[in-house]
Amino acid sequence: MHKYYWITTYGCQMNVHESEKIAGILRARGYEQAEREEDADIVVFNTCCIRENAENHAYGNIGALKKLKKSRPSMLIAVGGCMTQQAGAAEKLRKKFPFVDIVFGTHNLSVLGELLDKKAGSKKAVVDIWDKEGEADTEDISFRTSYPNAWVNIMYGCNNFCSYCIVPYVRGRERSRESGAIVREVNALLDEGYKEITLLGQNVNSYGNDRGECSFPQLLHKICERDGKYRLRFMTSNPKDFGEELVRAIAEHEQICNLVHLPVQAGSDRILRLMNRKYTAKEYLQKVELLRKYVPDCQLTSDIMVGFPTETEEDFQATLELVKEARFATAFTFVYSRRSGTVAADMEGQIPEEVQKERIMRLVELVNAQTRELSAAYRGKTVEILCEDFDQKRGLYLGRDEYGRMGYFRSDTDRIGEFVKLNISQTSGVSLEGELTQEKE
Ligand code: SAH
Ligand code: SF4
Ligand code: F3S
Repeated sequence: MHKYYWITTYGCQMNVHESEKIAGILRARGYEQAEREEDADIVVFNTCCIRENAENHAYGNIGALKKLKKSRPSMLIAVGGCMTQQAGAAEKLRKKFPFVDIVFGTHNLSVLGELLDKKAGSKKAVVDIWDKEGEADTEDISFRTSYPNAWVNIMYGCNNFCSYCIVPYVRGRERSRESGAIVREVNALLDEGYKEITLLGQNVNSYGNDRGECSFPQLLHKICERDGKYRLRFMTSNPKDFGEELVRAIAEHEQICNLVHLPVQAGSDRILRLMNRKYTAKEYLQKVELLRKYVPDCQLTSDIMVGFPTETEEDFQATLELVKEARFATAFTFVYSRRSGTVAADMEGQIPEEVQKERIMRLVELVNAQTRELSAAYRGKTVEILCEDFDQKRGLYLGRDEYGRMGYFRSDTDRIGEFVKLNISQTSGVSLEGELTQEKE
């Protein structure tokens, strides 16, 4: 009998990559990817709890499986990820959805196989959440699905405790992987034909602090000893630890994309202090300047939040000002969401929803205008794209440039995994369209 799996992923890139690890574990046990959820012998929900809507989304989809589970009781339902790792969440989940078979957390993902065995011998649900961080290095079990890009964790956890954020509570303290293991993994991926590596961590700039063996800039140097044509990306950088040594590394190595994702969160110093971000707007802008000094053609993206407790119109105006001054190419924008257990959840002065909504609309408008302006500047230029997919609907290949901008083009031959050059003829909000140049790579 064929065994099929279906995984639904909700969170950040790290969470996406962990779904690749879950897929790896299931494949090692003889499971294959199902075409549809309805055909699956096991459905895994890899959840996120960064904002309330991420949780609601997961709850909604788990609830929607109740009927299917009734008609096919042998189908297993497993729920893992950040949501289950919150205090009391596993019990709440079991109460709400008694038909769920397995509940696991972020720290014990590597033992999912053992949990499956346990479930096979028992009628009862298997709930296993660890309080302590798991030690196992789970990288080599991944079944990757993002060719020509590969995600590589360089560290787990977060020590920063930004006052709004649940991540340190559900991911534990920072644990860096050994640099040699990371370099070996990157080299093996490049040997396999991957063309782009994205290093992952909640704050990659503090990589190595817990080991004292190798800093983040040193890790980049070690990886870039490998010659050849490939792209190296990393996320996320925390401005408080972003410094000259890293900027020099970006400038020095051709392979490192000249794009930095540097979440600012807010432009008001009072709000930044309440957020426990440990930098001021001025210090942030000085880091941007430093980056532009060493890497003049660099682009910057960010994460920005509105409606944090006590945020006034004046504070919000400071955020808009900073978006303009930093000239973000684009940014992820969020409405503050109250996360139980965090410091900000108990702050006075929570902002009404209408005010939050009105502010996010103004922020999105500004960010989009900056993105459009930058896109328009691409017209008539030649850009290098790493082709990653084919869009059936439009009949066009697509891929990203160094700055993460999506470019579409026509080709008679399969270009996936190739670097191609495009003459850009059209631009829309965030995407580009162009013709292949004649020159060969
Ligand atoms: N470690 C990264 C990002 C982690 S989460 C960093 O520090 O930048 C990604 C983004 O989600 C954050 O940058 C923040 O903008 C947003 N976010 C985190 N907690 C949130 C909350 N409670 N409400 C709304 N947005 C939040
Ligand atoms: Fe959350 Fe701050 Fe850690 Fe990022 S650095 S994961 S925002 S606590
Ligand atoms: Fe979500 Fe956990 Fe990532 S809360 S954003 S999946 S670290």
